[in-house]
Amino acid sequence: MRVNIVHPGADKLRYEIREIVEVAKYVAKATSRPIVWENIGDPVAKGEIPPAWIKKIVRDTAKEDSIFAYSPTKGLDETRAYIARERNLEGGIQITPDDILFFNGLGDGISHLYRNLSPHARVLGPDPAYPTHSSAESAHSNKPPLTYRLDPEKEWQPDLTDMEKKIQEHRDIAGILIVNPDNPTGFVHPQKTIRAIVALAKKYKLFVISDEIYSNLAYEGSGMRKLASVIDGVPGIAMRGISKEFPWPGARCGWIEFYNRDKDKNFDRYARSLVDSKTLEVCSTTLPQRVLPRVMSDARYYPYLATRTRRYERRAAYAYSVLSCIPSVIIHKPQGAFYMTCVFRKGVLKESQSLTMKSGLKKYIGSHLAGVSLDKRFVYYLLASTGVCVVPLSSGFNSSIQGFRFTLLEPNETRFKKTVDIIARAISDFIAS
Ligand SMILES: Cc1ncc(COP(=O)(O)O)c(C=O)c1O
Repeated sequence: MRVNIVHPGADKLRYEIREIVEVAKYVAKATSRPIVWENIGDPVAKGEIPPAWIKKIVRDTAKEDSIFAYSPTKGLDETRAYIARERNLEGGIQITPDDILFFNGLGDGISHLYRNLSPHARVLGPDPAYPTHSSAESAHSNKPPLTYRLDPEKEWQPDLTDMEKKIQEHRDIAGILIVNPDNPTGFVHPQKTIRAIVALAKKYKLFVISDEIYSNLAYEGSGMRKLASVIDGVPGIAMRGISKEFPWPGARCGWIEFYNRDKDKNFDRYARSLVDSKTLEVCSTTLPQRVLPRVMSDARYYPYLATRTRRYERRAAYAYSVLSCIPSVIIHKPQGAFYMTCVFRKGVLKESQSLTMKSGLKKYIGSHLAGVSLDKRFVYYLLASTGVCVVPLSSGFNSSIQGFRFTLLEPNETRFKKTVDIIARAISDFIAS
């Protein structure tokens, strides 16, 4: 090329959750054994069947001519009115339909959010980090992600001292991100923690982003509270979507809610730039937006979600009972979403450790392991040796912590237990090798 056409942030765009798929496919072919996919948070791909009544609403809605049309840029009026009404009924900050902006999936919303931020403005996010946030933030600033620690020794509580220190050290930090319930840890931020984060934002004149895509999948008794309940007068953005809830990830439908646009001119201008940027794309997909209030207002919706979260809780209880017996790892029960994160204690992983695998695979797996972190080594050995595909924390979640994430999505309880038992045995064998 006459001119370098590669964006300076191009190397920052990484999504190990899907990148490992190619390696897994190779392993499946070489071993003639199916892969146990524990890497992707797609309930439908993992075998959960969306309820018949939701499918009927989608089918009936698809018969309407209007769903073939564009929708307004911000999203369908009736859908935004429904969301604003529901939000306001919960108490906390009150919003109008104009404070809501739809995207083609929350991933698209995240991408717009960082892309339209000044390249000099940084967002401080959690470590471990959901990679769509950390990669998009890193690519927009062309710098490594700026993170605060979620502490595995304290049940994944955010380290607020570390957070404040980073805010003081990096004067370019303009916002703080929380993911609540969190991916990959399943941690639900207690209301007093969110309040403390909002207080820091107020003190240092920052805005707060709360990714709440799993908020309706918080477990009973988790104490889940949304950012809206404590945002006070601080500028904020909450992010929601239907991918995990309905579950309908293929619909590509998510939205953001702006809080306190009137409290800060610069924040309001930024919010308008997000709307302008969406306007250039015309709008987001119409069908799921039309379906949304019909599904969410149905009397069967919340009982259906409760059935699912109870199942995830049972899966988590089993995984905890097995993995907590291994002294070399730290494991906590999640309080929401459908992931669990297993952390290796400091010093237990070594370059020399391995698991047995088909001899034909050794060279292939070895070619992927030069210079990689030790948790990724474990994950690749686990995959090659057992066919179980999980995601390493270091490369998958931009983390300084060594560990891996697996899902609680397997609908078949016996199969889930078997997978957890295989993982547990592999950890013990790997560490003892
Ligand atoms: C925390 C979090 N935010 C956003 C997304 C993206 O969701 P969507 O399917 O709406 O793009 C995901 C998907 O896994 C997620 O885990």
